[in-house]
Amino acid sequence: MTDAARTTGGDQEAVYRQATPGSRAIHEQAVKVMPGGTTRTTTYFDPYPLYIDRGEGCRVWDVDGTERIDMLGNYTAMILGHAHPKIVEAVRAQAARGTGFAAANPVEVKLAALLCERVPSLDAVRFCNSGTEATMFAMRLARAFTGRPKIARMEGGYHGTHDHAEVSTHPGLAEAGPPDAPIARPDSMGTPGWALEQTVVLPFNNPAACEAIIRKEAANLAAVILEPIIGAGGVIPATVEFLEVLRRVTQELGILLIFDEVISLRVAPGGAQQLYGVTPDLTTLGKIIGGGLPVAAFGGRADVMELLDPRRDPSIAQGGTYNGNPLGMAAGLAAMTELTPDVYEALNRKGARVSEQLAEVFASHDVAVQVNSAGSMFALHFTDQPVVDYRSMAAADKKKTRDLFLGLVNHGVLMAPRAMGALSTPMGEDDVQEFIDAVDDVVAEQKMHWAAV
Ligand SMILES: Cc1ncc(COP(=O)(O)O)c(C=O)c1O
Repeated sequence: MTDAARTTGGDQEAVYRQATPGSRAIHEQAVKVMPGGTTRTTTYFDPYPLYIDRGEGCRVWDVDGTERIDMLGNYTAMILGHAHPKIVEAVRAQAARGTGFAAANPVEVKLAALLCERVPSLDAVRFCNSGTEATMFAMRLARAFTGRPKIARMEGGYHGTHDHAEVSTHPGLAEAGPPDAPIARPDSMGTPGWALEQTVVLPFNNPAACEAIIRKEAANLAAVILEPIIGAGGVIPATVEFLEVLRRVTQELGILLIFDEVISLRVAPGGAQQLYGVTPDLTTLGKIIGGGLPVAAFGGRADVMELLDPRRDPSIAQGGTYNGNPLGMAAGLAAMTELTPDVYEALNRKGARVSEQLAEVFASHDVAVQVNSAGSMFALHFTDQPVVDYRSMAAADKKKTRDLFLGLVNHGVLMAPRAMGALSTPMGEDDVQEFIDAVDDVVAEQKMHWAAV
């Protein structure tokens, strides 16, 4: 147990307050100009968020100068770590040549070609600035192509924050309906009623129930969208059978299948669709494809993407001041060029080892945890039951998750408050060991506390 933890009786929040006076001071100013003192709900945590000053490789430094291992990499985006020399150089060179024009640019064509070459479903691609926009446009394309209004999505999946995406990502279990026939629930105040009416919610990893619901709704269903590996919702991989059933049924019924690979492109050069050998009609991408800058994309079958061709009449307009922004394209191209198949393999091997070591640590303390993992991502769920869908994820102990998160912040590790982590290429054996030791220490500190509650 650390001295700080001993003197504060294992109260991680008290330790955090002691160690972060700089963040606290900024937060006191920040709450006067931003709700909660931050501009991103996902970076807020109680009692106040950490304010980061800089990052390099797999390390970040907060405004108090405290160094931590970054085990999240901006929610999986920073696969090459921070300030990667090739990306810094690409951004520097492009910035000196201008950062935005009311014109197409040659760099966007190179990045588009690279993505189409790697990701099996991509005949053509369009860029935008966030995963939210990517899923919004993919859904619109599906409605336009099929002439049908509804979108089916998985309970507990995450597709960003536009109106159609803010349905049943984290419904309260009391209102969510039966596990095999979930009810569409709003994720946010202000989610419009039409979004609920036009959304069909499906149970992840339950092929029989999904097939039945899809068949019932088929006449009105434009698309089924899902993350082949649920990312932010707990790193929950689909079974092969599940994806195969979805592919077969949607194909038969003329419904488009959309894979949201905003996160899962980090598991293989061609994304999860390459690993599973299941090719969707449309794919959404984000995070790693911008090398840390705000870049996302959607793409897929040529006959669907063709609806965006301005030479057609009518066509779907996709404006966007920053679409294909040369700075983001340059950073993305540099990052994706670095990510060769060998790099993916080495990172995934590292990910598998980390998951094994995590399981060993919790077993050695006799604390029931599910280590869900896929490639270089993992999530920890405090439950003794396998986590295979939203309901099993939601049943896990969230109080322990928060204690672990804040404990790790106090022990020099930044992870997601929901105990999700993602490795980056600069992480060496020593970094990994430091992380595992920190988990070991935090569990040792918290165990008595957890047992006493
Ligand atoms: C699978 C998935 N889709 C879409 C999004 C939304 O992306 P953005 O945060 O860039 O809007 C995310 C973000 O985490 C995501 O994980």
